[in-house]
Amino acid sequence: MLRGLARAAAPALRALRARGSGSWAGVPAHVVDLRSDTVTRPGPAMRRAMAEAVVGDDDYGEDPTVRELQEEAAELLGVERTLFVPTCTMANLISVMGHCRRRGSQLLLGQDSHLHVYEQGAVAQVHLLARTYGARVHLDGARLMNAAVALRVPPAHIVQHCDSVSLCFSKGLGAPAGALVGGRADFMEEAWRLRKALGGGMRQAGVLAAAALVGLADAQQVLLRDHENARQFAKGPGSGLQELASPFCSVDPSAVETNMVMVTLDGLPPAELCQRLQAVSAEEVAQTGRAVRVLLFPWTARAVRAVWHRDVSAQDTELALRKWEFVLGQLGR
Ligand SMILES: Cc1ncc(COP(=O)(O)O)c(C=O)c1O
Repeated sequence: MLRGLARAAAPALRALRARGSGSWAGVPAHVVDLRSDTVTRPGPAMRRAMAEAVVGDDDYGEDPTVRELQEEAAELLGVERTLFVPTCTMANLISVMGHCRRRGSQLLLGQDSHLHVYEQGAVAQVHLLARTYGARVHLDGARLMNAAVALRVPPAHIVQHCDSVSLCFSKGLGAPAGALVGGRADFMEEAWRLRKALGGGMRQAGVLAAAALVGLADAQQVLLRDHENARQFAKGPGSGLQELASPFCSVDPSAVETNMVMVTLDGLPPAELCQRLQAVSAEEVAQTGRAVRVLLFPWTARAVRAVWHRDVSAQDTELALRKWEFVLGQLGR
């Protein structure tokens, strides 16, 4: 029977073969990867910029491309100086270590931080509070550019409330690696020392900085598109997840401000949903004419998080939605 279904669906599967990866009964399936915006791969323009980057020893401050990136980012973020580091984790760690230099220093973290940077008002309130108690504020800006694009404000407008900031290039901006820490010049002197102590001093890092520069140049256009695709998934006219009206899942479209969609589940364990969305069956191929794998991680005990990025097109978004529809249909909606 399986073979019969596969034969009936053969034309559709042949069309998918060129685009897909993974496989169903030996036949490639189309993969829509919504696990995170970290899964992006550098496109041709980014790879070209990396190949052609002018480089030097950045640990001696001699890499022209890293310097260009640091200067451009300082301007963008409205800070005196920035420093290129391998990861956003290191950028955040350097900031915390730079601020909490005395033994016994206390660090206040949001309950769910990594900070949600688009909550600009919250950042400003923390800053009011922080001044009262003589504390410093660090902004985990892993997705600061998403926040700025969504709020239609320059990134510096958000950063003005903070004493230090990180910015990550390997998430929505699409670079393979790299982040920045930024702040006042005296703070950045200490940041440079800490980067060295943590083993984050890189040499010909211009190949990575070149990718980050392309990511920054494309940010507005790419992130707007990602946000629009996320919105369409949640609430596309007549076809978004909300319209499927399933008792198993719900989404609040008004909460979709950037590239993330949180889907609340009821009576359906997140791990089971993820497994069903990832699997391809003969029934799916026969019923929809497609073999689509949607990749997601469970987010909490009652929710999954879907993340849009430059490698998920409007067409992928539609395919993902139709896969959800199929899976929910199997469950009896
Ligand atoms: C909000 C936030 N901050 C920091 C990090 C750490 O970034 P990295 O993986 O570059 O160390 C992440 C990673 O996903 C993140 O989501």
